[in-house]
Amino acid sequence: MLTVIGSINMDLVTLTNINPSMGETVMGESFLTIPGGKGANQAVAAAKLGADVKMIGKVGDDLFGKEYMEYFQRQSINVEKISVEKGEKTGIASITVYQNDNKIIVVPGANHLITPEVIDSYKEDILQSSWLLLQLEIPLAAVERALEIAKSGNVKVILNPAPFHHIPEHWLEKITYLTPNEYEAEQLLNAYSNEQIGNRVREKLVITKGDEGAEFFNEGKIVHIPAMKVEAVDTTGAGDTFNGALAVALSEGNTLEQAVAFAIKAAGLSVMKLGAQSGMPTREEISE
Ligand code: RIB
Ligand code: NA
Repeated sequence: MLTVIGSINMDLVTLTNINPSMGETVMGESFLTIPGGKGANQAVAAAKLGADVKMIGKVGDDLFGKEYMEYFQRQSINVEKISVEKGEKTGIASITVYQNDNKIIVVPGANHLITPEVIDSYKEDILQSSWLLLQLEIPLAAVERALEIAKSGNVKVILNPAPFHHIPEHWLEKITYLTPNEYEAEQLLNAYSNEQIGNRVREKLVITKGDEGAEFFNEGKIVHIPAMKVEAVDTTGAGDTFNGALAVALSEGNTLEQAVAFAIKAAGLSVMKLGAQSGMPTREEISE
């Protein structure tokens, strides 16, 4: 069982051929509302690959929340641990896609209500998992509590430090793999003054580098796994697909190198369709 604790956002996506400056109004191409949120994206990526996934999160009791719950059920995501918060809004991400790249502003809404106490109430679910996936779109205190529970039961953890926030030193021993992109990796490493800590972090890093693939360290040496060449339509959620697929491959007993290669393929395929989740591949699509 893989457990994902994290954000559920409705993505409000605007496609534009003109990138407006502050104070400027331009005409866009199209607008869509599609399921997203780093937590939910990871859960859907893993479920599409056939994994048994439990998602822990919150939506509001608004239209987006209702739509999202129905969507989860169609994706065969277990919604038992997703609560609908009275009087609260579902998290949203305002996304502008311009020349296949994006800008994202997240307003957390119900995601913000995931407190350490809420995490405590899911203790058993965490302890029953082989891997726990975390990101940083919910309160950091909740992430910390989840890490503590996972550590107490030797549950392995993949933490995606996005949106970027410094990872406190005492979190490190509770994390199996940290999966920043290259910018996040730089900020992460710069924040540790002590070289020893830097080295300890390096051994846990799996760095995603967009169309260049991914890197990790093996006994101090960089191992680079290249990406395949694809026509990118929308890179939103590619990192989340990577994390979901990485967890699936690791939970099946693959080596880190094999798991990263698998995750890179999944992420590569995911960018060929618009939206965070629509391009996420099945296992069959990856082997093709
Ligand atoms: O990682 C992509 C995701 O970031 C989007 O789906 C959006 O909801 C934001 O959380
Ligand atoms: Na996509």
